[in-house]
Amino acid sequence: MSTTEQRVAVVTGGARGIGAATAVRLAAEGRAVAVIDLDEAACKDTVEKITAAGGRAIAVGADVSDEAQVEAAIARVVEELGAPTILVNNAGVLRDNLLFKMSVADWDTVLGVHLRGSFLMSKAIQKHMVDAGFGRIVNLSSSSALGNRGQANYSAAKAGLQGFTKTLAIELGKFGITANAVAPGFIATDMTATTAARVGMGFEEFKAAAATQIPVARVGEPEDIANAIAFFTDEAAGFVSGQVLYVAGGPLD
Ligand SMILES: NC(=O)c1ccc[n+]([C@@H]2O[C@H](COP(=O)([O-])OP(=O)(O)OC[C@H]3O[C@@H](n4cnc5c(N)ncnc54)[C@H](O)[C@@H]3O)[C@@H](O)[C@H]2O)c1
Repeated sequence: MSTTEQRVAVVTGGARGIGAATAVRLAAEGRAVAVIDLDEAACKDTVEKITAAGGRAIAVGADVSDEAQVEAAIARVVEELGAPTILVNNAGVLRDNLLFKMSVADWDTVLGVHLRGSFLMSKAIQKHMVDAGFGRIVNLSSSSALGNRGQANYSAAKAGLQGFTKTLAIELGKFGITANAVAPGFIATDMTATTAARVGMGFEEFKAAAATQIPVARVGEPEDIANAIAFFTDEAAGFVSGQVLYVAGGPLD
């Protein structure tokens, strides 16, 4: 491909939160962006933000944990935008509960969206990256990968994504493809707002309490994560692979 040709990025869970900020940021970096989420109509705001700024984007409805829907979604991306060579596996759900109360369905849902979804998307897109001799995969892990009460399913999925990321880096490196993980701490989105409601706290109060535990003394915003993802997807980041970057306003390990 010529260097003037526009690269195509796929961002899952792009209707809102971190995914929406990432889609907008990658478009600002000059990428054409496929915004994928469960409901195509819900992606409209993100797509409009990008096109209003002069970028190219399409909305695609798909459940990332469903193989047939993933394949159909990527076929549409190829046809309408071109072959994707940047993938951000961001779609996510919470089904928090203590182990003894966690249902098998809630375990399967969380593992299905984060792990199966990232696997299916990566598998569907890697051939386009191999053909292009270029690829950037970024998986959304979490500080919860280090363990978090009430999140046996989510922490297992987010830790699993770190192993998945490192294996992709090893397998795909020789094709010009990097794979990295961004592991956010507390980010103000609908996901954390839902957690606040579940524990019976107002969101402002919940964020203020979280900020007291964070060295930079504030919670994160979706743009903080989009910024880190933009670094990993940059053309110049080709020697950075298999890494997990905690973006949490302070050190975690
Ligand atoms: N917010 C945080 O504090 C935080 C911290 C660490 C990691 N993360 C991770 O970052 C990612 C984005 O989180 P967020 O806070 O923006 O969440 P969010 O709930 O605001 O947005 C998640 C998006 O994913 C979509 N989605 C869910 N299941 C899907 C599926 N099966 N197929 C396609 N789309 C699906 C949702 O519809 C939603 O638009 C998630 O992977 C999350 O686990 C978030």
